[in-house]
Amino acid sequence: MAAGDLLALPTQTRETCRLEPWDSRRGQPGWESLAVACWAARRMALGYRTVGHMLTLAGETGVGKTHLALAIAWEWVERFEREPWSILTNDELLKVLESGIRRHEGWEGWRVISDERNWRRPGWPKDHGVRFARVGELLDMLQKGYEDGLYYELLDECQNCRLLVLDDLGHQRETPWRLEIVDRIVDARYISGRWTVVTTNLPGDQLPPRIASRLRDRSTGFVAAIEAGDYRPLKSSNGRRPW
Ligand SMILES: Nc1ncnc2c1ncn2[C@@H]1O[C@H](COP(=O)(O)OP(=O)(O)OP(=O)(O)O)[C@@H](O)[C@H]1O
Ligand SMILES: [Mg+2]
Repeated sequence: MAAGDLLALPTQTRETCRLEPWDSRRGQPGWESLAVACWAARRMALGYRTVGHMLTLAGETGVGKTHLALAIAWEWVERFEREPWSILTNDELLKVLESGIRRHEGWEGWRVISDERNWRRPGWPKDHGVRFARVGELLDMLQKGYEDGLYYELLDECQNCRLLVLDDLGHQRETPWRLEIVDRIVDARYISGRWTVVTTNLPGDQLPPRIASRLRDRSTGFVAAIEAGDYRPLKSSNGRRPW
């Protein structure tokens, strides 16, 4: 199986984990922090760098971290499905145009879309480049990848894909080798300005310091610390706690 397939978004969440429906939980304890997280997620879903390129959603279990992270990811996938050219950055677009010219392809195959700023070559790029990984599972796959040769492909995908969701960072006790891998992924994305969403149950001071430091850099990212309670028991019971 290719690395991209191993890092696919869980398909069933295309319906359930979206910005709409989203319960603002207005009036419940911590709802303001939830509103901030939702605002940040919406900015990122639109591809705006208002909150930088690294969004960290932190909080206790069941507050909606994975939901929001996946909601961003699905918005990106759907934007790609509607307008495949629109997810290219200006630099990427330039590179593609330049390489075409170098190979004497000229402008053939390209056409101007409506506003004369966006260029498209039919059928390109092929893939939305949106990837999702639960950190524990990703590290297991990377470890296994040493045997079946997928290690470098997976690592490259994690470091360079357009949008990466790293779900449940720090959830598990990790060996130094495994922590080093997460560090490499976060560092590569931090430096290269690649879009990243991290979810974690841990407060910053319990994450590995090098990783926490990068996530906390306000010039490149935003940490939304959600202080609401667990939403899971409220889901099916119309607000009544069944247990
Ligand atoms: N504000 C909300 N509106 C609608 N659904 C929500 C909301 N918050 C959470 N949910 C739903 O509650 C469930 C738990 O949310 P989610 O999995 O995102 O929690 P989490 O913060 O990632 O928890 P954990 O730390 O255990 O992974 C999901 O089914 C999610 O869709
Ligand atoms: Mg989660």
